[in-house]
Amino acid sequence: MDGTLAGPQTAAGATPPHHLMQGPLTCDRLPWGSVRSGRYRVRTAEPDDAALIRDFVCGLSVRTQYFRFFTAVAPPSGGLLRALSGGSGRSDILLVIDDSGAVVGHGMAADGESCDLHTADIGLVIADRWQGQGLGTTLLRLLTERAAERGVETLVLEVLPDNRKMLGIIERRWPHASRKRTPDAITITAELIRPDLDYSSIPGPLLAAQLIDCAARAASY
Ligand SMILES: CC(C)(COP(=O)(O)OP(=O)(O)OC[C@H]1O[C@@H](n2cnc3c(N)ncnc32)[C@H](O)[C@@H]1OP(=O)(O)O)[C@@H](O)C(=O)NCCC(=O)NCCS
Repeated sequence: MDGTLAGPQTAAGATPPHHLMQGPLTCDRLPWGSVRSGRYRVRTAEPDDAALIRDFVCGLSVRTQYFRFFTAVAPPSGGLLRALSGGSGRSDILLVIDDSGAVVGHGMAADGESCDLHTADIGLVIADRWQGQGLGTTLLRLLTERAAERGVETLVLEVLPDNRKMLGIIERRWPHASRKRTPDAITITAELIRPDLDYSSIPGPLLAAQLIDCAARAASY
């Protein structure tokens, strides 16, 4: 990666330049900033964003589509577009947009239940030209934080075995997450630490490892 996040900012602490303030900012804590490919900001998706999301998906390389959706999806079907725009199910959807308002990144957490646990399936994708500049990591961090705030206990990520970049990002963030090989992909399950839960039944070494993960994340924010 030869680009870095050049001072990502939060709208809460400073007033961004005027051109970064166009469009609805629905959450004060969502960041904006500048990377090698240009200025960006993160905002939540609105149902009206379907056309923008469609253009974004159609602009993705086949390889990027494959890593995110496990097949070529452009142009996206009506059902996929509804899912990506938040028109179906319980999803938290974040968009990274550039100066012109075009979508350059998309991340979603689809909430569900499994074995009495509140889970969230995470999927994210960054436009080819904007990859490798920290935006995917930023989206994953935001989706994770927001999931924890909603009471999600477990994150689930499906990643293709040859997606070394995504597997590396997950490995660095959740080194103790469980991995299960399915016919198509690797299913990664990561527990979130929640301050309101009783962790006394979790084996000490596992709890310690998760707390270290949690502290490392907090230190990197
Ligand atoms: C995977 C993806 C979301 C990551 O977003 P990104 O903005 O490109 O990634 P970032 O710049 O935030 O992070 C890149 C990290 O991967 C590492 N990396 C970069 N290229 C890599 C490669 N070819 N192999 C392994 N690691 C790589 C970087 O060193 C960096 O490491 P760090 O976490 O220690 O800083 C993005 O590349 C993408 O959209 N890929 C296609 C779709 C996809 O794979 N989605 C995930 C399925 S859920």
